[in-house]
Amino acid sequence: MKKVTVLGGSGFLGSHVVQALGEAGWKVTVLDLRPCPALPPGARMLVGDITDPAAVAAAVKGARAVYNFAGIADLGEAHDRPLDTIRVNILGNGVALEACVRAKVKRYVFASTVYVYSRSGSFYSASKQACEAYIENYRRYRGLDFTILRYGSLYGGRSGDSNIVHKMVKEALSDKRVTYFGDGSEVREYIHVEDAARMSVEALAPEFRDQNLVIAGHQPIEVRGLMEMIREMLGGKVRLVFQHRDAGAPANTHYHRTPYSYTPKIGHKLVGRSYIDLGQGLLRLLDEVNAELARSPKRARR
Ligand SMILES: NC(=O)c1ccc[n+]([C@@H]2O[C@H](COP(=O)([O-])OP(=O)(O)OC[C@H]3O[C@@H](n4cnc5c(N)ncnc54)[C@H](O)[C@@H]3O)[C@@H](O)[C@H]2O)c1
Repeated sequence: MKKVTVLGGSGFLGSHVVQALGEAGWKVTVLDLRPCPALPPGARMLVGDITDPAAVAAAVKGARAVYNFAGIADLGEAHDRPLDTIRVNILGNGVALEACVRAKVKRYVFASTVYVYSRSGSFYSASKQACEAYIENYRRYRGLDFTILRYGSLYGGRSGDSNIVHKMVKEALSDKRVTYFGDGSEVREYIHVEDAARMSVEALAPEFRDQNLVIAGHQPIEVRGLMEMIREMLGGKVRLVFQHRDAGAPANTHYHRTPYSYTPKIGHKLVGRSYIDLGQGLLRLLDEVNAELARSPKRARR
């Protein structure tokens, strides 16, 4: 059975990729600081730190492919904690690359972002740029094949409050209001996390060796449009509140209409044959967040 290791496989995106890999017949090992909520049958869970060389070496031993989702994934958190971002995102990536070379791993798959060469994105995108540069140099000087996945705006099950769509749906359900820091004209291409996970597994195909791929939604939509969809789904009784951007987010860390700035390292967009429509995906998320709120009585009473 083909073996794969997923570093950071207990988080929002990583846990869905772990599930998709299990469904595709891979024998999965997960290394994360916390247990994976969706471990497939027969999978191995190792609790450990990506910056610990011994833990990572044990996790990648015998793997054909290694995915890396571990690290600080929130823009605001990275902006507030630049040194931790260097340690976990950049050093962690370096430890993983070294271990993969030693274990003769055939493909290193890295979770980057469409923000990578954006002029906004603060220390988060700086860490992704550094990681991409190290990965390219490990290819060049150590012969480690890679696939860099640059994800767009993800939404769906198991996302937490740092995920903007989750936050909006939760606020709409509990407070009949959706607050957004911006004027709503910001454009995003939302993709359901299960689609992104399936495409992340397809990215192991030989034609995607040493490629940068963009995994984003099919249709650009203004944030205001997304908020209006949520309002309509809840029968119109939700107030939309737009606050000045600087009131809630570190200045200039999020892009406005496009995350792309001109760069010679353009990624190719990976397009799936079928996908979860934004409306359908939102309805599922409403269901999931509703159940989450019902389990938390304090919040539901508000
Ligand atoms: N969610 C998105 O919209 C999105 C978009 C673009 C890129 N990405 C990238 O995808 C990756 C995963 O994002 P996510 O949304 O699933 O984040 P997440 O925070 O849900 O998952 C990150 C996981 O890494 C683990 N982790 C953190 N520090 C660790 C350490 N020192 N050692 C081992 N494990 C550690 C956490 O426990 C967590 O399970 C990140 O690299 C992120 O930058 C995410």
